[in-house]
Amino acid sequence: MGNDSLKKSSQNASENEDSNQLFLNSVARRRNFAIISHPDAGKTTLTEKLLLYGGAIQQAGAVKARGEQRKVTSDWMELEKQRGISITSTVLQFDYQDFTINLLDTPGHQDFSEDTYRTLAAADNAVMLEDAAKGLEPQTRKLFEVCRMRNIPIFTFINKMDRPGQEPLSLLDEIEAELGLMTWAVNWPIGSGEYFRGVIDRRTKEVSIFTKADRGKEAAEKCFLLNDPRLKELVENELLEKALEELELLDEAGSGMDQDLIHAGELTPVFFGSAMTNFGVSPFLNAFLEMAQGPVGRLTEKGTVDPLEPNFSGFVFKLQANMDPRHRDRVAFIRVCTGRFEKDMIVSHARTGKTIRLSRPQKLFGKDRAVVDDAYPGDIIGLNNPGMFAIGDTLYTGNRLEYEGIPCFSPEIFSWLRNPNPSAFKNFRKGVNELREEGAVQILYDRDQAKRDPILAAVGQLQLEVVQHRLENEYGVQTILEPMSFQVARWVDGGWPVLEQVGRIFNCKIVQDAWLRPVLLFKNEWNLNQLLEDHPKLHLSAVAPVVSGVEPLSL
Ligand code: G4P
Repeated sequence: MGNDSLKKSSQNASENEDSNQLFLNSVARRRNFAIISHPDAGKTTLTEKLLLYGGAIQQAGAVKARGEQRKVTSDWMELEKQRGISITSTVLQFDYQDFTINLLDTPGHQDFSEDTYRTLAAADNAVMLEDAAKGLEPQTRKLFEVCRMRNIPIFTFINKMDRPGQEPLSLLDEIEAELGLMTWAVNWPIGSGEYFRGVIDRRTKEVSIFTKADRGKEAAEKCFLLNDPRLKELVENELLEKALEELELLDEAGSGMDQDLIHAGELTPVFFGSAMTNFGVSPFLNAFLEMAQGPVGRLTEKGTVDPLEPNFSGFVFKLQANMDPRHRDRVAFIRVCTGRFEKDMIVSHARTGKTIRLSRPQKLFGKDRAVVDDAYPGDIIGLNNPGMFAIGDTLYTGNRLEYEGIPCFSPEIFSWLRNPNPSAFKNFRKGVNELREEGAVQILYDRDQAKRDPILAAVGQLQLEVVQHRLENEYGVQTILEPMSFQVARWVDGGWPVLEQVGRIFNCKIVQDAWLRPVLLFKNEWNLNQLLEDHPKLHLSAVAPVVSGVEPLSL
C-alpha cells in the first residue's frame, strides 16, 4: 500500500470511528415522552413551560397563541378551521442540557381519537398529569391502560397545587389502588391552595418555596435546607410539621425509589407543582431526564432489536392527510427505532417489499415543518405519503425485519355509513377502503350485510366527522351517518368457535371486523358485565391483537 492510500485508509477509519461515536452520543442523548391527561388538567400549560425551559419558545403562551392564531389564519384543513381546534397531534423537539427531547403531543379534548392511543405506541416514557383537585380522571385512565400494555415508565406530575386539592396521600393511594402502580414521591407539598408554601425535595431534603413567576418567565425557585432558621419566616410551623409527618409515613410504609421498577412501568415517581405559576416544572424536567429511559428496543418478528443497531429502521404510527390542501398531501409519521436516518436514504418497505427513496423527510414543530438531514432512534420524522404507507408499516435498511404492528383500540362510538347515491358507489368504496387503510377510522361489518354498508367505529366523535368530510371533499361522495346506540366493543378470545359454544347472547350485537373476527357491541358496560357473569369462561378483549400477513376485508 502506498503512503497516500495508507493515509486515506487511516483517515477513513478515523472518520468511521467519529461517525460511530456521533451516532452513539446522539442515541444516548435522546429522550422521548408523551403526556397523558384528562382535558383541563393543564397539558397545554405544562407543555408550554417545558418548551420554555428548552428555549424552543421565547415566551410562554406561544403554544396557545399559535392555536388561537390558527383558528383565524390556518387553511390547511377546512374542518379544523370550522371547529377551531387542532386535529393533528404534533411532535415537538427541543434541546435541554445535554438532551434532545421529543415531546409527542397526544390530541385530547374533542379531538380525542385513535391517534391519541397510537401516539403512545411511539413513546418511550409517559408523563401522567393530574389535577390535584380531581385526581385520576377517565381519559387519563384509558391512556394509562395503553401505556401499561407496553409497560412504559410513567412520571406523575400533580398539578394546580396553588388551588385547593385533595390530600396528597389520598392522591397517591388512588394511583396505587386503581392503577396498580407503586408510587414514590420525589417531592412533597407543604400545604395547598391558598396555603401552598412549596415542596420538600425528598432526596436533598431541601425546601423550595412557592413563588408565583410572572407569566412567561422562568421561576427563580428559592431553596432552603430543612434546618435553615429562615424557613420559619416563610412557612407556618404546623404546615411544615404536617408535611414532615406525612413524609415519615411514606418512608415507613411506601415503596422505595427503584430505577428498575420505574423502567419496568411498575413504579411512578410523583412530583407536585403548579404548571401555571411555573412552580416545580424545572425540577421535574431535571429529575425526569435523570430517571427516564432512552430509546428502547422494539419488538419484531425476530425478537427485540437494539436501537444501537447501525442499520436504519422505523415504523409508521400515524398518518395525517391534507395538512396542506394546496398539495393534497399526506404525511406518514415514522418513529425511528434503530440506526441513523439520512435524507434521501433508500429503504425497504416490509409489507410490500418495495424500495423507496425518502427524499423529503420533515421534522414538524406544530404546523411548521423543516427538512431534516438526519434523525436518530427516539426521533419522529414526517414523510410524504403518496398512499403507500399504512399504520404499523416497517421501513428498514439491511436485513429484513418487521415491527410488531399497532393494535386496534376499543371504539366507543358507532355509526352506519350510508351511501344514498348508488352511482357514486365506486368512489364510496375507494374512499372507505383508503380511509380504513390509513387508520382514520375502524370499519366493522354486519354479518348479514358483509360487503354492504359499513359501520364506522371510532374512539372520538370527531373521527366520524373527519371521515364524512373527507369522503365528500376528496372522493366526491356525500354520505349519511346513522348513529348506533352502542358504546362498548369487545373482541372474543378464541373467535367464532368460542362464540358458537356460548350460544345465544342477549343485549349485544355481533358484528365482524376487517379481519372477519367477531366483535361484540354493547349499549353499556352493564350489559357487558352481565354477559361475563353469565359466561364466566368467555374471555373478551378491549384491544384487538395485531394481524400480520393477512389482507383485511375491503368494501
Ligand atoms: P389542557 O391542555 O390539559 O386542557 O389544560 P390547559 O393547559 O389548557 O389548562 C386548563 C386550565 O387550567 C387553564 O385555565 C390553565 O390556565 C389552568 N391551569 C393550568 N395549570 C394550572 C396551575 O398550575 N394552577 C392553576 N390555578 N391553574 C392552572 P383556563 O382558565 O381554562 O385558561 P387561561 O385563561 O388560563 O388561558
